[in-house]
Amino acid sequence: METVVSGIRSTGNLHLGNYFGAVKNFLKMQHENKCFFFIADYHALTTHPKPDDLHGNIKQVLAEYLACGIDPEVATVFIQSDVPEVTELYLLLNMNAYVGELERTASFKEKIRKQPDNINAGLLTYPVLMAADIIIHKANKVPVGKDQEQHLEMTRRFARRFNTMYNVDYFPEPDAYNFGNALLKIPGLDGSGKMGKSEGNGIFLADDPKEIRKKVMRAVTDAGPTKPGEKPSEPVENLFTIMKVVSDASTVNYFTEKHASCEIRYGDLKKQLAEDIIKVTEPIREKINALIADRKYLAKVVSEGGEKARASAAKTVKEVREIIGYKPF
Ligand code: TRP
Repeated sequence: METVVSGIRSTGNLHLGNYFGAVKNFLKMQHENKCFFFIADYHALTTHPKPDDLHGNIKQVLAEYLACGIDPEVATVFIQSDVPEVTELYLLLNMNAYVGELERTASFKEKIRKQPDNINAGLLTYPVLMAADIIIHKANKVPVGKDQEQHLEMTRRFARRFNTMYNVDYFPEPDAYNFGNALLKIPGLDGSGKMGKSEGNGIFLADDPKEIRKKVMRAVTDAGPTKPGEKPSEPVENLFTIMKVVSDASTVNYFTEKHASCEIRYGDLKKQLAEDIIKVTEPIREKINALIADRKYLAKVVSEGGEKARASAAKTVKEVREIIGYKPF
């Protein structure tokens, strides 16, 4: 079995795009691989969250992933900061990571632009910590989106560099695990582009039905088709795209034909779409709320997951120390 590692930052709630684009694939992956899924709460510190918010953010993201079906009996689910071994590997890897290459990282350059008053060393070495997260479990595959590909390239480089430096074949070089054809891009409700966490165009799994109806009814459309058989405009096509993942084929066909014959009423389409989205999200939302209220269960999940992750991490750190040349007296 191959080892999969993926970290989830504890910022922002999960939306439909995350669910259909990524999380559903995690659900499949967990049965076919040895999976480590963790909440990257050390990484979250680069943006200086308030102490009062930190724990709640971690808990929310944890509950959302579990509610979606990540199974802690199958995958190892843990909190990054419960496995302090990763900080030791991070320190060791930092010795072989060069400031020049870190400064050239696209995500670092973007942060310099976005938060010029908080360019901390943690941002600079973000890719080193991410590499430590991954290779500490000797992962072969890392499911990541496009925005993380450069970080993964650096992970491979750091692993290779360690192997070369100490003349060992110790760390595997992990590959990006793209979900192939299954990768679905869910558009936002604002007419163009992808659904995002902060674009204000998304439907969150934690949204209640009232909120979802309101958001869908406000979605951007157009003035309606003017001649039979006309291709839907981008905003309308986007609603059809969402409909294709949440509604029955017969519903999609019904509205497609209504559009083609210029008889479509967007209000009807939106009403149906909202109800079909609610059918998907409502059971998940109920689970999220039940999990958030079940402190004991969450505590059990992270303590068992943390223990398993620590065992795996401690073994690697011990071996790495030996390779580097530390010896007992
Ligand atoms: N950098 C990732 C993100 O922003 C989160 C992350 C941290 C991660 N460590 C990881 C992802 C290890 C995959 C593997 O989404």
